[in-house]
Amino acid sequence: MSPARCLLAVADLGLDGIAEVMTLTDSFVEVSERAMPKVPALRGRTVVSLFYEDSTRTRLSFEAAARRLSADTMNFSVSTSSVHKGESLRDTVETIEAMGIDALVVRHPSSGAPAQVASWVDVSVINAGDGWHEHPTQALLDCYTIRAQRLAQGESIDATRPLDGLRIAIVGDIKHSRVARSNVAAFALLGAEVILVAPPTLLPPSLAGWLAVVDHDFDAVVAKVDIVYLLRLQSERCDEALLPSRREYTAGYGLTSRRAAMLGDGAWIMHPGPINRGVEIAADVADQSNSLITNQVANGVAVRMAVLFLLLAGKPRG
Ligand code: CP
Repeated sequence: MSPARCLLAVADLGLDGIAEVMTLTDSFVEVSERAMPKVPALRGRTVVSLFYEDSTRTRLSFEAAARRLSADTMNFSVSTSSVHKGESLRDTVETIEAMGIDALVVRHPSSGAPAQVASWVDVSVINAGDGWHEHPTQALLDCYTIRAQRLAQGESIDATRPLDGLRIAIVGDIKHSRVARSNVAAFALLGAEVILVAPPTLLPPSLAGWLAVVDHDFDAVVAKVDIVYLLRLQSERCDEALLPSRREYTAGYGLTSRRAAMLGDGAWIMHPGPINRGVEIAADVADQSNSLITNQVANGVAVRMAVLFLLLAGKPRG
């Protein structure tokens, strides 16, 4: 099958693909606002959530997206599956595929696992976050959220480069973040200037290929950016002592109330969630009027409807 059946990384879409997702998402936002938020576009299709790692937002929004497109959904839970009897990832996905499905939405702690799954099956595979590698639908919903804010404020934007002219700081645990990898690629492609702000221990050993510059001084950066995008400390992917203490991390790299007050007029705050209030972001700052965190979650459903529609509508059944 053609690689076009899968979404494994931001690069799979490119500029035109992202523009197509953005335009389709506008339609699905309109569907989501109806009294009956449902269309028959994927009736008869089956979308399976295959999550080997915890999730609230991604799992639920993919399921909501599939249902709003009238697809059937199946939910694989590692804790109650035959994985605990020793079944391999390959045997698991081939077993699920044999039930007659159309798409696998895969989250896995190992980078590259969704690509491996795509090489074993003939159905569409969507990367819902793999290790430190990528989380492409998070990047899409973040780009859509920024584009929607600019349009709502009456800004005139370039349809294919809707982030043109923006300066975005991505702050925190860049090293272990798949969101950072996908978002740097997408933000830069869509025209933004990206600044990575982190202590040296929370940056990747090499930034070759990252379309971003680095700064270690959050105080110096915060006043000159249009968007501050915060990341959680990913302790589940970090087995070394990379920080002296949480308190020192917050002092140097948290969006405290003091730093939030330094943001320019019209600057926005974003975070992919889950949030650790009081660590990377002060509790009250997360709820400020310039925080787009709930907009990001809301847009996630319509963006994932667009992705499922593009991959499955009009294609032969799996
Ligand atoms: N942003 C994100 O991927 O959240 P979940 O881990 O809750 O899916």
